[in-house]
Amino acid sequence: MLQVDEAPGVQPVLTQNPYQPHMARIVRIYKMVPDNHLFTLRFVDDALAMGFKYRPGQFVMLSIPGTGEAPISVSSSPSRPGVLELCVRRTGRVTNALYRMKTNDLVGVRGPYGNGFPIEEMAGSDLLFAAGGLGMAPLRSLVWYALDNREKFNSVVLMCGAKTPADMLFREELVSLVDRTDITCLLTVDSDPTGEWKNHVGLLPTMFDHANLDPARTYAAVCGPPAVYKYILERLLKLNFSKDRILMSLERRMKCGVGKCGHCSVGYKYTCLHGPIFTYWDAINLPEMI
Ligand SMILES: Cc1cc2nc3c(=O)[nH]c(=O)nc-3n(C[C@H](O)[C@H](O)[C@H](O)COP(=O)(O)OP(=O)(O)OC[C@H]3O[C@@H](n4cnc5c(N)ncnc54)[C@H](O)[C@@H]3O)c2cc1C
Ligand code: FES
Repeated sequence: MLQVDEAPGVQPVLTQNPYQPHMARIVRIYKMVPDNHLFTLRFVDDALAMGFKYRPGQFVMLSIPGTGEAPISVSSSPSRPGVLELCVRRTGRVTNALYRMKTNDLVGVRGPYGNGFPIEEMAGSDLLFAAGGLGMAPLRSLVWYALDNREKFNSVVLMCGAKTPADMLFREELVSLVDRTDITCLLTVDSDPTGEWKNHVGLLPTMFDHANLDPARTYAAVCGPPAVYKYILERLLKLNFSKDRILMSLERRMKCGVGKCGHCSVGYKYTCLHGPIFTYWDAINLPEMI
């Protein structure tokens, strides 16, 4: 079995006991859309708060004392240290308990875990981000990492889709990117009941008609519900994107997060160690991965 420090790209875990969470304070709760809140956390230990290293695409195990743990992607960028931002959808036991908490309450955090996006390999390339639904949660970290390290990348295109404007996670922030010249930000909704949406109306894949892409020099990072994968992958393959330049964040039920319990195994891979970021090539070679 692989140990966590043998997995490619995994950052050292900041504790001797891998199951020991560090206490973090909830410093802000931003209600983005009903049942999808952005929680800003700061480790109680100042040195840890400033020194917590992670890669875009990694996740942490978030624990609520007395309730349990859940894996949650880090939505903030390592280029902005000091706090961790977690975009959490209320689904079950742990997330419901989190939603009952208030600012200044304490939660546990262990990690970071998983491989994250291969940012060194991606340097010097064009980037395409495609997100739908909760997909912006892991992709947002990479988007801000790329914008904060803009000189490392060529052109950057972001496509984000939601059912309606009210359903779009990080809507204000994304709308503020539309006028920037260092990124092409294409936002679309399936329908606009308000009549006030100033961006695109149409399904996410139609955004390809507005993007100028050079597949040979582009890494595509895709994240969202199954329909996003299905239709975005179809478009990427039609454009001749290489399967190893298509990166996807794939989630499985996890318990330990450190390659010990086997809950997240798919074929011979552990999603918590070898993922959650997989190339499309990896994904089609693993049974039932997509
Ligand atoms: C790598 C990774 C990153 C993630 N990132 C995020 C993120 O950024 N934001 C986010 O909101 N979520 C994220 N998730 C998903 C999150 O971890 C799960 O939704 C988690 O189950 C929530 O914990 P919970 O205790 O609140 O819900 P649970 O009590 O685990 O329930 C969650 C849902 O699963 C169902 N369920 C519960 N037990 C089972 C079972 N045994 N079999 C089948 N279905 C069951 C429940 O009915 C419910 O609908 C991520 C998951 C992974 C693996
Ligand atoms: S969650 Fe335990 S092995 Fe991956």
